[in-house]
Amino acid sequence: MGKQRTNVSIAIVGCGTVGGAVALRLTQDQSLLQERTGLDLQLKYIVDMDFRRAEALGLPPSLFEKNLDRVLADPEVSIVVELVGGTTVAKDIILKALHAGKHVVTANKALLAHTGPELLKIARKNRATLSFEASCGGGIPIIRALYDGLIANRIDALYGIVNGTCNYILTQMTQEGISYKEALKEAQQAGLAEADPTLDVSGMDTAHKLTILASLAFGQRFTLEAIPVEGIDTLQNLDIQYGNELGYIVKLLAVASRLNGGVCLRVRPAFISRQHPLAWVSGPFNAISVYGHATGHTMYYGRGAGGSPTSSAVVADIVSAALGIHRAFFQTLRIWPDRTPKAKQVSPDELVSRFYLRFMVTDTVGVLAKIASVLGKNNISIASVLQKEIPEDLAKPSIAPVVIITHKSREKNLRKALEKIRTLDVVREDPVCIHILDEHEENL
Ligand code: HSE
Repeated sequence: MGKQRTNVSIAIVGCGTVGGAVALRLTQDQSLLQERTGLDLQLKYIVDMDFRRAEALGLPPSLFEKNLDRVLADPEVSIVVELVGGTTVAKDIILKALHAGKHVVTANKALLAHTGPELLKIARKNRATLSFEASCGGGIPIIRALYDGLIANRIDALYGIVNGTCNYILTQMTQEGISYKEALKEAQQAGLAEADPTLDVSGMDTAHKLTILASLAFGQRFTLEAIPVEGIDTLQNLDIQYGNELGYIVKLLAVASRLNGGVCLRVRPAFISRQHPLAWVSGPFNAISVYGHATGHTMYYGRGAGGSPTSSAVVADIVSAALGIHRAFFQTLRIWPDRTPKAKQVSPDELVSRFYLRFMVTDTVGVLAKIASVLGKNNISIASVLQKEIPEDLAKPSIAPVVIITHKSREKNLRKALEKIRTLDVVREDPVCIHILDEHEENL
């Protein structure tokens, strides 16, 4: 059989870090992509308002176009790649492209987390597809794993390190013993954190990704606003160090697990055992661990950010859209959040886990008994207690850190106990509470 080539014309909107990398991939790797896919992928337009970056990358000026409407009116263009980011202009671009009947590929996790179902519905109405592999985990094909490779499973839990900036900062704090502020500065100097890092360090970027991942994993529609989110910006070295002494590593985790007939989503820093497979995911790397009822534990690892890794995911979506593969999944599967029921999204109140607690207390007789009494009254059993030496840099005579590891306890009870302990006169600072996340139990 002779080799038949299908010509596919593509427009990239937004030539930033990822847009530029996708443009390079499509131009420089054209023959590799042709060999592997049989497709003749033609980058026809790069749409932006400023082409300095595109010029610096050596991309041909013949591709530069400022007028999106002209691009959308070109019948040859079948795929529009939105890489502008944000939730305002990007939304208009995607809507216009879908209304023009173009397939859309995007990496925009914030927009999808806020308005994914609406956009998917509009794509369907216009007989187009919307694909978003690059929205979570950069170059890791986790979206495909969920809608394709794992489709035979009832997913019971999903745990992810999905923010490279946070993972880099936490790794530096853990390995170098530096403060959060120093680690953030280092990350910014290394180009791994934005000048305004709020979206990353507050945990919101992780929550955006969790909304998307959980929707596909559980086949339900989740609400971003209902996810309790804690970031890494209040973590202290002292706790990372004490946790380390106890065999734990701190990670910012996106977690989704079944609870009381619903699904509990949360984003927060947690201690995991040094033996946990997610513990060795360091620096800017990401990993997502998924537990299926048939597969048991699976894990997906790779670079979660950066132009080149993310371009790999974008190009995979372009190829799937061009081959019609994505259309088949998009039209038939019942896991896309515009087609699935609203999730019963339960709060973590009823979660049962172990906790690391640190109290700064006056170093006097009977302090431990007072704290233990409140914990006991709230049904929280103590597994171990460590009274640490007063760290020299704290230099507050007669205030000592007491670290308590609890047995498995109900989160609601712990919160109640902490509220009471906070008011004790012997407790001098706000208590620190970090969850200890045990490996999900497999029932194979
Ligand atoms: N700011 C994100 C991160 C970029 O650090 O992971 C990729 O979504």
